[in-house]
Amino acid sequence: MRDAALAMRLDARVVRAAHPVVVPLLAFARASVLRLPGIGVLVQDTELAREVLSDSERFTKNGPGASSELWTPVLGERVLLNMHGDDHRRMRRTLQPIFAPAFVRPLVDAMIRPRWEAAVRSLEAGERVDLAKLTRETASDAIASLVGLDRGAVTEQMFVDVTRITGMVKLSKPRLRRSQIAEAQRLLHGLTQHAHAAYAGDESTVPGRMRALGLSEREALGAVGAFILTGTETLAGAIPRIAAMLIDADYLREMTDGNTESAIGESLRWTTPSLATLRSSLTDTSIGAVRVQRGERIVIATYKANRQSGAWNPEAGTSRGLKQLWFGAGEHFCIGAPLAMTQIRTAVDALRAAGPLRIASRAPVRRTLIPAYRSLIVERQ
Ligand code: HEM
Repeated sequence: MRDAALAMRLDARVVRAAHPVVVPLLAFARASVLRLPGIGVLVQDTELAREVLSDSERFTKNGPGASSELWTPVLGERVLLNMHGDDHRRMRRTLQPIFAPAFVRPLVDAMIRPRWEAAVRSLEAGERVDLAKLTRETASDAIASLVGLDRGAVTEQMFVDVTRITGMVKLSKPRLRRSQIAEAQRLLHGLTQHAHAAYAGDESTVPGRMRALGLSEREALGAVGAFILTGTETLAGAIPRIAAMLIDADYLREMTDGNTESAIGESLRWTTPSLATLRSSLTDTSIGAVRVQRGERIVIATYKANRQSGAWNPEAGTSRGLKQLWFGAGEHFCIGAPLAMTQIRTAVDALRAAGPLRIASRAPVRRTLIPAYRSLIVERQ
């Protein structure tokens, strides 16, 4: 590997472009836990982050300052990421099978792999490929299929609308304004309106399964919105950032079938596409040395927690002990992780097949929730 430091420096630009104020400020925050006025209790230590995420007796995603305050007015009350306790567990059990590796692998093989194989052929023919655009399209296609949408009809617009909605989220604002809620609902209505047929259909899609669970069509369409929000931008952020780091460090040529998984894990640790997540305290308690009151907002800075174990090094296996903390921990651990991992592996395998590569040009998305490349143009060296 030639230059891990260069890869990290260039990736840092993507994160700063997304969050030009908060991320540089937090770079100076060293304490494991600290109270930030107007924001909440910030947790940035690996073990304490895991403790909060895993303890659903003390912390909830459905309470003041947590995800529910942002998303319930837009998506409805039963969309996993704003649920808690038995109701949440039941919903997860019902939806789990359509996110299981055995279900998502054939989907990715049929729908996503051919797109990456075509990209490899283009690169081999000496053409340039925009990995950011390709990933936006493939990630959107996969989700569209899972939620029963007609892919062609929606995926181009899907990504634009998703980033408009998530772009409304600010760390300093626990709730969306009324006008933002109305706008988010309008955008989501446009995205989900074609899912009615899926609700009436079989259980191979999210809405069909939710109907079987007894949820109303409105609730099921809310969940469709939630999956579109959680499952597109994260991957469209992750895959090009990981690809760029592996190319910038000239590490692709050293990758084998045997070390690819651990290089991906390490790159997910370093990039942590979903930088932070929210909880609300259910009780008066402590996190580390900091006293926390019932109803307080907890901001878990997962990206800082994940970086505590050292600089990015795809050769070192640093990420192994973290149990994929970049996908969360405990009851809300990312249900889409198998889908995400299958897509990332497909993309990285394609890049290995096409390599050695260089980056011809790149541009980040500015002021966005999930750091991402707007364009990442690659070609063969
Ligand atoms: C690299 C890509 C991804 C990353 C880094 C990621 C990260 C995360 C994290 C950190 C959480 C936990 C949040 C918390 O505890 O508050 C989460 C939950 C979730 N993710 Fe992902 N995610 C990714 C891809 C996906 C995909 C492809 C889907 C597909 C729909 C998805 C759907 C969800 C859902 C529905 C939840 C909520 C689960 C629950 O509350 O029970 N994610 N994700």
